[in-house]
Amino acid sequence: MKKIAVLTSGGDSPGMNAAIRAVVRTAVFHELDVCGVFQGFQGVVDGDFKKLHVRSVGKILGRGGTILKSARCKEFRTKEGRVRAIENLRKNEIDGLVVIGGNGTFAGAMKLQEEHSFPIIGLPGTIDNDLAGTDNTIGFDTATNTIVEAVDKIRDTADSHNRLFFVEVMGRDNGFIALRTGIATGAIAVMTPETGLDSNDLIDVLQAGQRSQKSSSIVIVAEGDKSGGAYELAKKIHNKTDLYDIRITVLGHLQRGGPPSCSDRVLASRLGVEAIEALLRGESNCMIGIVNDSLLSTPFKKAVANKIHTLEDEVRIARILSI
Ligand code: F6P
Repeated sequence: MKKIAVLTSGGDSPGMNAAIRAVVRTAVFHELDVCGVFQGFQGVVDGDFKKLHVRSVGKILGRGGTILKSARCKEFRTKEGRVRAIENLRKNEIDGLVVIGGNGTFAGAMKLQEEHSFPIIGLPGTIDNDLAGTDNTIGFDTATNTIVEAVDKIRDTADSHNRLFFVEVMGRDNGFIALRTGIATGAIAVMTPETGLDSNDLIDVLQAGQRSQKSSSIVIVAEGDKSGGAYELAKKIHNKTDLYDIRITVLGHLQRGGPPSCSDRVLASRLGVEAIEALLRGESNCMIGIVNDSLLSTPFKKAVANKIHTLEDEVRIARILSI
């Protein structure tokens, strides 16, 4: 292995730059050439490669977003797109690829590997934390800290006006972000696909809260909850009871940006070093994660299988502590 390439794909997450830096510097440390690919798999399909040096990744450790840009590439989902991609990788004499992203990224990487048997290592870069084979994905800690800071502020207003706030958070079709932040902000309820509460259950919970002298409350709603999101849910609650003065906040993309936390910087750095060393050991088709503080390789196929079952404990804790 003489030359490797690195790309970021899917939704950006805080810490992706720290991971790029670690990949580039570790490659140089091991005397490999490195290329950055721009716009994720789109850049592989279009041949958008640029040589990176040690100094190309200076001062990015603490920056959110990704210097390599990111995209969700439709063309790469086709066989023809992947043929163009492999031709470009070969034309640029790339011997191994590091992809930083989430579910969609690894699904694409798996296809490329299956069809063209190209060495690929993945790093979990997504705020959603929905990959098996790692306790935390790069960006999850920062995004949840951002949400906690925002909800603490909303709590001040909720408290001052005796209001009920519905706060919608990201997380695609699962509740990792919602449950983590619901516990951390003392939400009266967390609405996620895993908690299985509907609007009637929520009214029971809210009424119990009023009976026990709660003057204001926060409900965290996962964007993927079956209630249809914070606006829909608030409408249902408002139609069924007029006990509350309700307000709604959808946090949206402010959850994805900003400087990565210390944990995300260190996680990204550890994973970036391991990605290159795994490629050098001949590993491929797997994601590097950290479980119980130890580095772990997990086949892409297993990594993308949802780890929803691991939320049982959080669901229980959120329920007990919200009474
Ligand atoms: O996967 C990260 C994520 O932020 C999800 O939580 C969210 O559902 C989605 O990306 C939003 O994607 P986009 O930025 O393309 O609207």
